[in-house]
Amino acid sequence: MAASETKASSVDLIAAGKRHYLPVYRPREVILDRGRGARVWDREGREYIDFAAGIAVCGLGHGDPDLLAALVEQGGKLWHTSNVFYSEPPLRLAEELVQASRFASRVFLCNSGAEANEAAIKLARKWAAQQGRPPERRVIVSFRGSFHGRTLAAVTATAQPKYQEGYEPLPGGFRYVDFNDIAQLEAAMAGGDVAAVLVEPVQGEGGVMPAADGFLAAARALCDRFDALLVLDEIQCGMGRTGTLFAHWQDAVVPDIVTLAKALGGGFPIGAMLAGPRAAEVMQYGAHGTTFGGNPLAAAVARVALRKLGSAEIAANVARQSAALRAGLAAIDAELGLFAQVRGRGLMLGAVLKPEHAGRAGEVLDHAAANGLLLLQAGPDVLRFVPALNLADADVAEGLARLRAALKAFVTR
Ligand SMILES: Cc1ncc(COP(=O)(O)O)c(C=O)c1O
Repeated sequence: MAASETKASSVDLIAAGKRHYLPVYRPREVILDRGRGARVWDREGREYIDFAAGIAVCGLGHGDPDLLAALVEQGGKLWHTSNVFYSEPPLRLAEELVQASRFASRVFLCNSGAEANEAAIKLARKWAAQQGRPPERRVIVSFRGSFHGRTLAAVTATAQPKYQEGYEPLPGGFRYVDFNDIAQLEAAMAGGDVAAVLVEPVQGEGGVMPAADGFLAAARALCDRFDALLVLDEIQCGMGRTGTLFAHWQDAVVPDIVTLAKALGGGFPIGAMLAGPRAAEVMQYGAHGTTFGGNPLAAAVARVALRKLGSAEIAANVARQSAALRAGLAAIDAELGLFAQVRGRGLMLGAVLKPEHAGRAGEVLDHAAANGLLLLQAGPDVLRFVPALNLADADVAEGLARLRAALKAFVTR
């Protein structure tokens, strides 16, 4: 490490970031340096409880020894082959994803959530094309409040104008429906021109909003009736976060396609599209591709993450800590009266600020960071809790104590 790297002050580094980064983010002004479990330290040695987990990515916390061992072992063997040659980690990962999913027969490995959704959208279009449907009858239906990523197709599927403005012309063939509104979905599909319905079992960025009981089953039935594919985006809510390895297991539906990313790599970038029998044979040689997808380093890490996140211990801890977090949030709310609602599933929870504090979630996050807590928002009104799934009782207790301090500072400002 160059001497200048160690000597530069955090203030100088942040100033350099502001000069050199495309200013599409507004990070909190701390420089995180290392992490262990659900705790992170900045360059000055200040400790934070991490309820953000890199945006629901570090499902096993920071520095998990098994993930590290897999990375180091693979790092000493082979880093990359691309898809013109086989290597063992992605072969094994694909097999394990097929087995774990209970529905998929084939897997496409890629690098991010947006790419997984892009692959799903392309697959759905190709599926409809192979049935002889003309382009105008290959519509993708998605839901208001959804988030599916930032590539042009994924952001078009993301039915929130704030992510789309200025990027027009957007790709055609997308249609939006209110989330959890079965009648609207039926009306949107009645013309028989829909190739796929794309839905998050729990909307993440849109405010931590779970699908209502029976909604995914109704969507499945409509897809069967109107011959469309059901595509579930489990990029944020999957990999154990809601208490089962796949969130949709709790809705008892069988999807045609599921997309994964985030926690699949535990912090190492990877995405995956899983296709069931109706969709799996659509894409043939040359139809899609990626240089990095199925990278051996990513796959080696993801194999371990998949095994650990699918364990009974993780499911039990998600249930335990979800209850603890909810109880703690209720206690804080009883004292400070800030929340209109706490919603979500497992360790994907959202605390909705009361209308008088609407638009101020970002301010709460500033107070949280100042009190040693890393927290996220989901839109301007919702505090989002997506910690590591293996976090300990003491982490929850300490995180809640710091949240209480942050919220007291917020209300007394
Ligand atoms: C549900 C969902 N889908 C897709 C994405 C996009 O994933 P990525 O940022 O890896 O492209 C996200 C990211 O937040 C997400 O939450």
